[in-house]
Amino acid sequence: MVSPGYVLSTSTALGSPPLCYGRSKPTKWERIGRGGWTSPKLKCAPVSVRSQFLLTPPPYPLASLEPHMSQETVESHWSRHHREHLESLNTHVVGTELRDMPLEDIIIASYNKGDPLPVFIHAAQTWNHDFFWHSMKPGGGGRPSGVLLRLIERDFGSFEQFLNEFRVAALSQFGSGWAWLTYKANRLDVGNAINPCPSEEDNKLVVAKTPNAINPLVWDYSPLLAVDVWEHAYYLDYEDRRSEYISIFLDKLVSWDAVSSRLEVAMAKAEERAREEELREREEEDDTFLSDDESVQIYLDSDDGDDSDVE
Ligand SMILES: [Fe+2]
Repeated sequence: MVSPGYVLSTSTALGSPPLCYGRSKPTKWERIGRGGWTSPKLKCAPVSVRSQFLLTPPPYPLASLEPHMSQETVESHWSRHHREHLESLNTHVVGTELRDMPLEDIIIASYNKGDPLPVFIHAAQTWNHDFFWHSMKPGGGGRPSGVLLRLIERDFGSFEQFLNEFRVAALSQFGSGWAWLTYKANRLDVGNAINPCPSEEDNKLVVAKTPNAINPLVWDYSPLLAVDVWEHAYYLDYEDRRSEYISIFLDKLVSWDAVSSRLEVAMAKAEERAREEELREREEEDDTFLSDDESVQIYLDSDDGDDSDVE
């Protein structure tokens, strides 16, 4: 899984357009060299960060997903919805044991067996949005290749069948939520989550949908692709036509490069976990064997004692 890239810092993110407060129209950003941004029209303030998590921008200019996703949509989604979750998260973790934990660990620790606390909602939505931005790229869509395509064809029958399953999941998510392509390994239990048991479906690609802020990390799945089906993600561009938005997302925006990279990491993690599990089982077998030897020895010692009593 690709880390969302949050850092322990209070500095402004280099390479990202700064947030402007109080503006009413989308801003035309101009990049200055490799590390800065400027706008000739508006006075901008540096990013305000109240705690350790820093708002990172989408990995492309905010207008570069047009005409499929407008700059207005990306700006309001990132600089308003995403930022509000991040700032609320920072407020909730201040002074708690969660403060120094990686974001993924906060999500799992606060999931609370499906009865999520506010800190879970803000942590998960912060992670989900960053993952969503990195799931797209200008000029995206098309077909994946390599290992990813082979696994899609193995686990869904065909790429077209995968697209159909993903569309159905995203479209049928009642109310707000997310649709995902994930890699399901499930080799270890997850702390306080209700974790699906290992089955013959381990180590395969799975489509899932989740309500509100929940993401597949709480099942110990490795997310590979996400589409945000909260209305704020598409209403400005597609009004209530979620189906059209989902089709455009798949056909024009998905970064299959990002999905392939995430799959590579997920498979490596699953292999490492399988090795750890095998090693643990071998150690447990050795312990059992040693324990049996000790039992026999104790029995023999006891038997010797009985003989001496008889004599
Ligand atoms: Fe969103």
